[in-house]
Amino acid sequence: MEADKVQRVAVLGAGVMGHGIAQVAAVAGYDVTVRDIAQEYLDNAEAGIKDSLGRFVSRGRMSQEDMDAALARIKYTLDLGEAVKGAQLVIEAIPERMEIKHKVWAEAAAKAPKDAILASNTSSLSITGIAEAVPNPERFIGMHFFNPPAIMKLVEVNQGEKTSEATVEAVQELARRMGKTPVWVRKDASGFIVNRVLVTYLNEAGKLLDGYGVEQIDAAMQHKAGMPLGPFMLSDLIGMDIVYNILKVFEENLGPEYAPCPRITKLYEAKKLGRKTGEGFYSYETRPSVSEEQAEGFDVKLLLKPFVEEAEKVVAEGIASEEDVDTAMKLGANLPRGPFEMKHMGLGEERPILTDKKDGVLTVTVNRPGKLNSMTAEMLEMIGEALDAAAKDESIRCVLFKGAGDRAFCAGADISQFPLLDVEGARSLSRLGQTTYRKIVELPKPVVAAVDGYCLGGGNELAIHCDFRLASEKASFGQPEVNLGLITGWGATYILPRLVGKSLASEMMMTGHRLNAEEAHKAGLVNAVYPAEEFEANVQEYVKTLVDGPPLALAAMKKLVNMEDLEEASNAEADEFSNLWNYGDLMEGIRAFNERRKPEFKGE
Ligand code: COA
Repeated sequence: MEADKVQRVAVLGAGVMGHGIAQVAAVAGYDVTVRDIAQEYLDNAEAGIKDSLGRFVSRGRMSQEDMDAALARIKYTLDLGEAVKGAQLVIEAIPERMEIKHKVWAEAAAKAPKDAILASNTSSLSITGIAEAVPNPERFIGMHFFNPPAIMKLVEVNQGEKTSEATVEAVQELARRMGKTPVWVRKDASGFIVNRVLVTYLNEAGKLLDGYGVEQIDAAMQHKAGMPLGPFMLSDLIGMDIVYNILKVFEENLGPEYAPCPRITKLYEAKKLGRKTGEGFYSYETRPSVSEEQAEGFDVKLLLKPFVEEAEKVVAEGIASEEDVDTAMKLGANLPRGPFEMKHMGLGEERPILTDKKDGVLTVTVNRPGKLNSMTAEMLEMIGEALDAAAKDESIRCVLFKGAGDRAFCAGADISQFPLLDVEGARSLSRLGQTTYRKIVELPKPVVAAVDGYCLGGGNELAIHCDFRLASEKASFGQPEVNLGLITGWGATYILPRLVGKSLASEMMMTGHRLNAEEAHKAGLVNAVYPAEEFEANVQEYVKTLVDGPPLALAAMKKLVNMEDLEEASNAEADEFSNLWNYGDLMEGIRAFNERRKPEFKGE
């Protein structure tokens, strides 16, 4: 059955997942019949769908007409035969017990059209195992939505041993038509992608509790690793019974190292299941929260390493591609980055952009020292968010940019991402850098760059958008893009000549000539140079003067100093920057950088 031919969808099971899926399918324009074994369940489903769509309407995300049309497309029945009759897609979301699934599927497969796609929303049972109940398992597949289906974008498309490629393709397309992002789970494996990687990570966190505290680990993962919730708050949210039972299945299918850890077992046995019972790792009399200070002493690598390793196992076992694992973890577990993206960032021990507010100063640290703080698109976005927050926060009087580690402020855009871009991607990257850095100029508060080490390319562009640059003696400034066969893309062509004059700016950009701290000082690029060992103290003192200054007068002066038309220059720069992706010299430049040799440019 091809995706195009699907018009009618039967949903077996009217629980939270079942009716959520029915809603999604109806909103996407399919005629849907929901079936369950008691009228009460159907009534609850109908009320649940109305309630959910009503909320979309009241928030302006859907029109009343669209809601009414979607509701009119959904029927409810107690009769399995009636539900599956004429359906080209049957999705089952009934209790996770193999014998119940077998019984329902045997009947559904017999009564559904012979070419219908048969999909189970199971999150824990084997697709191949469930498919034993149907006569033609090549049409049987997993279509695993996440809770709540109306909101969560991910669908794991789980291929059983006998599922045909055509069925996989059709279901991926159907998921897309329902507004979801499918990931292809190529092998029938316990926990598929998200549960396998996530629940194993929760268990690994539990194993660390001999040496560290619950709050300490949660605080570190939340504040330092950028997870939306720490592992223990997340276990409490999911429910200890669910976490425990999934781990038991893993233990049986994947090996003893997946056995639930003692702390999770103990809570499960004591029926302290988390939020739903009022107690788990935390007590829920009040809403628990953890502060940045509590993270002290826990190295997030201890937990990120096994997390990434589990993801690597999923790929090594042929279950899914790295890209799909990253997508699944971001969309299915709400993580800011997938495990392979984390690995690529240099095992993102910590967030690549750190912010810290103290005594009127927002310190923004570019934190990717293993890669000389080179800047990715994601980091630019994080900087943009920090600047937006600084604009709104009256208690912030000054922003200070720094680089982590002792080698670099920032060695420019992350070159490793360049080969993945096309002309449009390059234009967006240029635009993103420009708009992010322009926020520095537009922020009505003084911004200081403290440069200790390399300040190159997009790093120098960050610095020159600031109002002040302070350098340690070992700082080094340059625009080395030319060595790659590239031009600057984040504002230097406009800003740099205005700071150091056209001659020197042209020399820096066209020859890649770098300035040491003293030269940069003489050229007016930096405001002051300090010995390395006194750098931090001097920076703090400099910043204090600004924090103590009159905010309104400083804002007015900043505005007047920067009154120039950046717009036209930015447009032209983004055009020229991305245009270079049309030619071979740039990739030659990047290859030469990677191979540590001199590039051979041909002008083509
Ligand atoms: N993008 C991606 N990775 C970068 C990077 C960049 N802009 N700058 C440095 N790195 C990485 C290196 O690849 C290396 O990673 P690895 O250890 O995984 O191999 C790591 O950071 C350390 O850099 P390395 O080159 O080994 O240090 P070095 O002391 O030999 O040289 C520089 C330092 C700054 C001269 C050199 O890294 C460099 O020229 N970087 C590129 C600067 C640039 O062209 N920026 C503009 C980009 S548009």
